[in-house]
Amino acid sequence: MSKFTRRRHALRQFAGFLAASPLWPQALTPQQMDDDVNGPINVHEFEEVARRKLNRLAYDFIAGGVEDELALRANREAFSRHFIVPRFMRDVSEVSTGVELLGMKLATPLIIAPTGGKNLVLPRADEVVAAAALKTNTLICTPTGTQKILEDGHPLMWWTNNVGAPDKASAITGARRVADQGCKGIVVTVDNAYQSNRDRNNRNRFDYGYMQTGVPKPGDPPRPPRNPARPAMWQPHVPSLNWSYIEWVKGAVNLPIILKGILHPEDAALAVKYGADAISVSNHGGRQMDGVIAPLDALPDAVEATGGRIPVLMDGGIRRGSDVIKALALGAKAVLLGRAPLWGLGAYGQPGVERVLTMLSDEVKLGLALSGARTPADLKPGMIRRRPLV
Ligand SMILES: Cc1cc2nc3c(=O)[nH]c(=O)nc-3n(C[C@H](O)[C@H](O)[C@H](O)COP(=O)(O)O)c2cc1C
Repeated sequence: MSKFTRRRHALRQFAGFLAASPLWPQALTPQQMDDDVNGPINVHEFEEVARRKLNRLAYDFIAGGVEDELALRANREAFSRHFIVPRFMRDVSEVSTGVELLGMKLATPLIIAPTGGKNLVLPRADEVVAAAALKTNTLICTPTGTQKILEDGHPLMWWTNNVGAPDKASAITGARRVADQGCKGIVVTVDNAYQSNRDRNNRNRFDYGYMQTGVPKPGDPPRPPRNPARPAMWQPHVPSLNWSYIEWVKGAVNLPIILKGILHPEDAALAVKYGADAISVSNHGGRQMDGVIAPLDALPDAVEATGGRIPVLMDGGIRRGSDVIKALALGAKAVLLGRAPLWGLGAYGQPGVERVLTMLSDEVKLGLALSGARTPADLKPGMIRRRPLV
């Protein structure tokens, strides 16, 4: 063996020893990465893992929007048209993400949005997401899945969600029931008069019955259709919903009412007039009416129309801490997360939801500091520039 070959051999042996040593970080195979909740480094990567793991019908149900998905895309595009103009020299050695909202102290301005159909991802998924909310101290909006946690006496911060009620008596009964259960607010979805026309669900022959039974597995015997997507697009939720609902409920219970789905500034002003306690500027994640304005674009006018009399929330397209910073700077008090926690759920169950929430909360905290804001209240509209649409 030549001197040169001996040295190369020794080097190879040393490299082998290092690689086997517990001190040396082992490279993960893609498969190991996939099984590791700490693998994905952002919400987009959680979506990718969820996409690979979920049944196609379930993935499309969650990811999809209505018709040509113009509104769905507009929600994300709006964030790339808004730019943060940060402030510096402001001592950001201490930063707090906390906000006060309708009598609650939230550790972060992040709220889990109401999302139906979680059981397409895994059984009892509403309970799983509620458990993640409890663990991460996050306010969750959900009509179901909280019962056990509340019965066990855990301090879950919880809002319910509904689409109103067709008559005064049932509105009052429903409101009293949730108030007795310890609910902290009623989120009324205003943009959901009918189920909508979602091409992906129509193409996949999706059946809304799967939201209860789960998606059929290969080899399952054929089931009779329960609620096929295409005809279900006209399914009425509460088309008669109107401003009286607020008066009915407020006369019966002492709970804040949050109207979710406001886009027009006149509706924002009417929400104040009729006694709503907050609004969320939202287009239902691009799932109801296509071609509507993105919530981030609608936010400044809605904030102005409320004149600071009620808190304005926002949801639609939030995937990054910097998205949250933009929404807060434009006047949102907090944001709701729809698909982001669902991607965590689809990828890794409860630990995935928790990781998405803590990851986003970390991004928000760092985003505040790097924008020169010690608290969300330090973010101002003057710190945002918007590239004109035309
Ligand atoms: C799978 C899914 C189900 C949803 N179900 C409801 C619902 O039952 N009620 C509601 O008000 N909004 C519902 N939404 C809309 C969300 O609350 C939220 O407005 C929207 O997802 C925000 O956009 P993002 O997903 O881009 O964060 C749903 C959204 C998704 C993705």
